[in-house]
Amino acid sequence: MSSPGLLLLLLLLAPRPLRPSLLPRPDTAEGKATLAGLILSALERATVFLEKRLPEINLDGVVGFQVLEGYESNSLRSVRTACCAFEQRQHRGLARPVAHPVEHAVSPPVQLTGVQEEWARDPLLQPLGLRAGRLAGTLALLLRRALFYLRLSDPRYLKEFQPAIQPGLWKLPKTWTRTNASLVYPTFEPEDSFSEESSDSCLALLLGTGMDSGQPCGLSDFCRTLMTKPGCSGYCLSHQLLFFLWARLMGCTEGLFHQSQSYIDLYCANMMDLNQRDDAVGFVYPAQDIFMENIMLCGIGGFSDFYKLRWLEAILNWQLPQEGCFGGRGADGAAKDVRHQEHLSRRVKRREKQFADGCSSHKTAMAVAALGGFLYVLAAYPAATGEPLPPTPSPSPPGSS
Ligand SMILES: *[C@@H]1O[C@H](CO)[C@@H](O)[C@H](O)[C@H]1NC(C)=O
Repeated sequence: MSSPGLLLLLLLLAPRPLRPSLLPRPDTAEGKATLAGLILSALERATVFLEKRLPEINLDGVVGFQVLEGYESNSLRSVRTACCAFEQRQHRGLARPVAHPVEHAVSPPVQLTGVQEEWARDPLLQPLGLRAGRLAGTLALLLRRALFYLRLSDPRYLKEFQPAIQPGLWKLPKTWTRTNASLVYPTFEPEDSFSEESSDSCLALLLGTGMDSGQPCGLSDFCRTLMTKPGCSGYCLSHQLLFFLWARLMGCTEGLFHQSQSYIDLYCANMMDLNQRDDAVGFVYPAQDIFMENIMLCGIGGFSDFYKLRWLEAILNWQLPQEGCFGGRGADGAAKDVRHQEHLSRRVKRREKQFADGCSSHKTAMAVAALGGFLYVLAAYPAATGEPLPPTPSPSPPGSS
C-alpha cells in the first residue's frame, strides 16, 4: 500500500511545525518575506514582554531595544517628545494618568526609513515594512517610559549609561566587512579575572559621564591595560569590543583610539571563533546570552558574517513562545534553577535581571538587538553586504558530523 505518491501526500498533510526546521533562503522575495515575517513576529512578542515588565526592567535590559529601535527607524522625534512630556507630568503629579500612554498616543507619523523604505517598493514586502514601522513607533514610546522608571530605580547607573539607551550613539553600519580568522588568539585566558565594575568605570570615562570626568573619549592607564589585554573571552572580550566600538561611534580618534579599528577587528575575529565553538557544541545554555551579544555588537561593528541563517534559526527557537522573552529554559521546557542562575549572574553579569518565570531581561535585550540586525541585513540583501546571511554549512567539530 505504500508508494512514493502516498508518502508525499502524508508529508504534505503532516501538521506544519510551529517553526520551520530549515529557514528559506533570502534569494527570492517570498523567502525574504517569510524570514522577515518570522523575525518581526519574534520582535513583536518580545516587545509585548518589554511593555509588561517595563517598571521592573533594568538598564541593560533596555539597551537592546534601543538598538532595535535604531534599526527600525530613526525619525520619531515628535513621538518621543509627546511621550516624555506625559511621563514627566505624571511624575510631578501635574497630570493624572487617565489612560495608558501608548493607548493614548496618536499614531506616529512614521517616516518610512531603513527597513521600511527598502520594502515600500515591493508589494510582497510592503506590509512587512509597515509592520516594522508600527513596531518602531511602539518601541519609541516604550523606551521613553523605560527611561522614566530607570530614573527612579537606578539613577546613578542611568546617569553613567544614559547615552546607550538614547538615540544617537548606536549608528548602523554603512559598509560591511568579514572577520579575519588569522587574528584568533592561539589560546584564551581564564575568564575569572574580568571585573564588571572596572569595565563600567572605563566605559563611563569614555562616555564622559563618570563621577570624575566631563569630557568624552576619556582614558586612564588602568583602562588602557584592561581594554587591550589579549586572550579575553566571554564578557571580558565583549566589553573590550564595546569599549572600542563606542569610541569609534563617538568619533574618538586621539592616542589609543587611533587604533580602535584594529582592536575591533581583533576582538570580533575572536568573538566569531567563540560563537562558532558555541555552535559546534549545540549552543549549550548559558552561552546563548553571550552568543547573541556577540552578534549584536559585531553586527553593529559591520561584520556581516555574524548574520548566518543557521544562527537566526537558533535564536528564533530560543524565544519562549508564551512570554515572548528569552530566558533560562532547557530543551525540556523546564525553567532552570533560579538560584544557580543568580550565582552565575552575580559572577558574570551584575545587572542581569532574572524573572521568576525564567525570563531574562539581559538575554531578551541581546536577542532583540541581534534579531533587529538580521532584519536590517535582510532588508538590504543582497545589495549592501554582497553576501550576508550566507547558507553556512555547519562547522564540523572533531568527532561529530
Ligand atoms: C588578516 O589578518 C592578517 C594578520 O594581521 C593580515 O596579514 C591579513 O592581510 C588579513 N587578511 C585580510 C583579508 O584582511
